[in-house]
Amino acid sequence: MGPVGVGIAGLGVVGSGTVNVLTRNADEITRRAGRDIRVVTAAVRDLERERDCDVSGIELTTDPMKVATSPDVEVVVELMGGEGVALEVVMAAIAAGKHVVTANKALIASHGNEIFKAAQDAGVTVAFEPAVAGGIPIIKAIREGLAGNRVEWLAGIINGTSNFILTAMADGEGTFDDVLAEAQRLGYAEADPTFDVEGVDAAHKLTILASIAFGIPLQFDKVYIEGISKLAGVDVDYASELGFTIKHLGIAARRDNGIELRVHPTLIPKRRLIANVDGVMNAVLVCGDAVGQTLHYGAGAGADATASAVVADIVDVVRALTTDPDNRVPHLAFQPGKLADLPILDVNESRTAYYIRIAAVNRPGVLAEVTRVFGDSNISIETILQKGSGKSEEVLPIILLTQRTIEKNIDQAIEKLESLDDIVGSVVRLRVEHLSE
Ligand code: NDP
Ligand code: HSE
Repeated sequence: MGPVGVGIAGLGVVGSGTVNVLTRNADEITRRAGRDIRVVTAAVRDLERERDCDVSGIELTTDPMKVATSPDVEVVVELMGGEGVALEVVMAAIAAGKHVVTANKALIASHGNEIFKAAQDAGVTVAFEPAVAGGIPIIKAIREGLAGNRVEWLAGIINGTSNFILTAMADGEGTFDDVLAEAQRLGYAEADPTFDVEGVDAAHKLTILASIAFGIPLQFDKVYIEGISKLAGVDVDYASELGFTIKHLGIAARRDNGIELRVHPTLIPKRRLIANVDGVMNAVLVCGDAVGQTLHYGAGAGADATASAVVADIVDVVRALTTDPDNRVPHLAFQPGKLADLPILDVNESRTAYYIRIAAVNRPGVLAEVTRVFGDSNISIETILQKGSGKSEEVLPIILLTQRTIEKNIDQAIEKLESLDDIVGSVVRLRVEHLSE
């Protein structure tokens, strides 16, 4: 059989990386796929821009629709990003009977339900391994490797840019803005980097992971989202003193009354492997009832690492070109008619432990007042730490770690604390996950 024609919409960081990996490892890839894979056309915005890959033999166009519908293309690889033109391109490719590979988590998280329905009806595959955790084959691991399990929960460092910044903060290196600029220079950040630092990108990825882990529809709008932009260096330091590292985690957990979906900065005990995942590296911890915990680690962003996942998807698609569409691995791991309608819980119903930092006037009885507030809200305190010189009337930080409780209890306690005369300003609250059970 002749080569499989591939069209790539977008030749930026990931697109160029994909061409490079396909070229560099062509022989190995052909031996795996059973056919040569040839990039025949690619779409870019600027035809004059120099590319980080060899584009000789690739027909360049500024019209991604041409890539989506070209008769020479069997597999369309969408690497432009965004939800506008990218959605049109993917739907046009499906309508033209092409298989699709995409790295676009925003697209899958927000429009995946309609995309997969269209793909199912057209008998084509839409593969999206590179959309979550860069080069880590986490989609395949959950969808196929853990198919015998009832997944109980998963927790992951799933944004490389945020982890790159948090690692620098913990090491006391560079300002937030400088480190973010470096992540952008290295090609890790999204076109709009607020998606990284405000947690939106991690929420896109968590939406996808939760869907394939629990067999539920994609529900991005129900994820609780908090990024790292407001995290204070002082909390990174106090957390460290208490034996914790702060990581930006995406957490999806099965509870008796529904599913928790939340992304936020999280204190993790330093002794956990995942607490030691630094820089652009990602890791996803998955807990299944049969296997227990599995940890999946690797580069979460960057040209070659992400290209590794793009090419793996292309190989999968090529291997399946001649198979019966009804016998392929379902897009969202569970058969399309078998997705469960489990409720997504509001964040105030979620259960976790908390790190609380309070600025309090150093007066006799203040500590007793603070602990009484927690007792009244039915929250047990695990650790309490008072910092400072001990001078009377000075404003000093009090740091507390609580035991697990329901978030609405903490909200109630914080409201009461902030109304006390001896408490100054806002109370800082961060969530703590022990990731042990
Ligand atoms: P880049 O901005 O580097 O590349 C985007 C490419 O798409 C560019 O080549 C651009 O053309 C082209 N493009 C954009 N819009 C159009 C359009 N309307 N018509 C034609 N071409 C267009 O992005 P990345 O490579 O970093 O990211 C691509 C996708 O991969 C995104 O969905 C991202 O979220 C995802 N991703 C990125 C990772 C990373 O590490 N960077 C990791 C995992 C996923 P031109 O070059 O001419 O401007
Ligand atoms: N901006 C993303 C990140 C790219 O930093 O993780 C990989 O999805």
